[in-house]
Amino acid sequence: MEIKNAKYEISSAKVSQCPDTQVPEYAFIGRSNVGKSSLINMLTNNSSLAKTSQKPGKTLLINHFKINNGSWYIVDLPGYGYAARGKDQRQAFSRMIEGYALSRGQLACLFVLIDVRHEPQKIDLEFLDFCGENGVPIAIVFTKADKVSQKVADHNMSLLKKELLERWEDLPPMFLTSSEKKKGRDSILDFIDSANAIWHESLEENEELEKPSDKSENQSPTP
Ligand code: GTP
Ligand code: MG
Repeated sequence: MEIKNAKYEISSAKVSQCPDTQVPEYAFIGRSNVGKSSLINMLTNNSSLAKTSQKPGKTLLINHFKINNGSWYIVDLPGYGYAARGKDQRQAFSRMIEGYALSRGQLACLFVLIDVRHEPQKIDLEFLDFCGENGVPIAIVFTKADKVSQKVADHNMSLLKKELLERWEDLPPMFLTSSEKKKGRDSILDFIDSANAIWHESLEENEELEKPSDKSENQSPTP
C-alpha cells in the first residue's frame, strides 16, 4: 500500500475530545524520545507532518492525521515515562494514554515502539503487560536500528521475546525499523493494509447480523 496523502486534523487533550470517525486508526506509543513522531513522518514520506525533537517530551497531545482522504487515521501519542515531567504529570499522561488504548473503539492497532539499542526495560514490559491484560490489539516496532549492529538488534529483540513468552502464549507482530534509513516502511504499511481489510470485513459481518431477517419481519404474531 502507498500513502497518497496525509493531513494533520486535530490535537486533543482528552480521549473524549478525539474526532468522531468511523474508520480504523493506528496509534504510536512508547517511551518519550523512542521515535514515534519520526516513524510517522517516515511512513507518510513527510518530514514535517508530526513534530519531532532531540529532547524528550515533545508530543503532549493526542494528534490525529487523516490518511488517504480519510480512509484511515494515524495517531501520534505523547510518550510515557519521561522522568523530568514529575510524578503528577507522568501519571496524568499515563492515564491519558491508557484511557485512549482502552476506550477508543476505532483503534485497529496500537504500535508499541521499543528502542532496539537497549535490553528490555521495565517500563516497556509493564506497558506491554497492560495491553496484554486488557486485550488491546498491539504490534511491536523496534526503532533506531541504524544506531546498532544487526547482532545487537537481534540480541535485544530475542531478550524481549523471551521475556514476553514467560507470560504470554503468543507474540504480537514485530517490526525492526529505522526512520533514518526508511527501514521497515513497506512491512508496516502492508500490515496496516491487511488490518484495514480485516476491519472492513468484520464491519460488513456486523452490519449483516444487525439487519432484521425477512422471516422475522413477515412473521405475524402468534395467537
Ligand atoms: P516524544 O514526542 O518526545 O515522546 O518523542 P518521540 O517518540 O516522538 O521521538 P521523535 O520522533 O521526536 O524522535 C526523538 C529523536 O530520535 C529525534 O532526535 C530523532 O531524530 C531521533 N530518531 C528517531 N528515530 C530515529 C531513527 O530511526 N534513527 C536515528 N538515528 N534517530 C532517530
Ligand atoms: Mg513525538
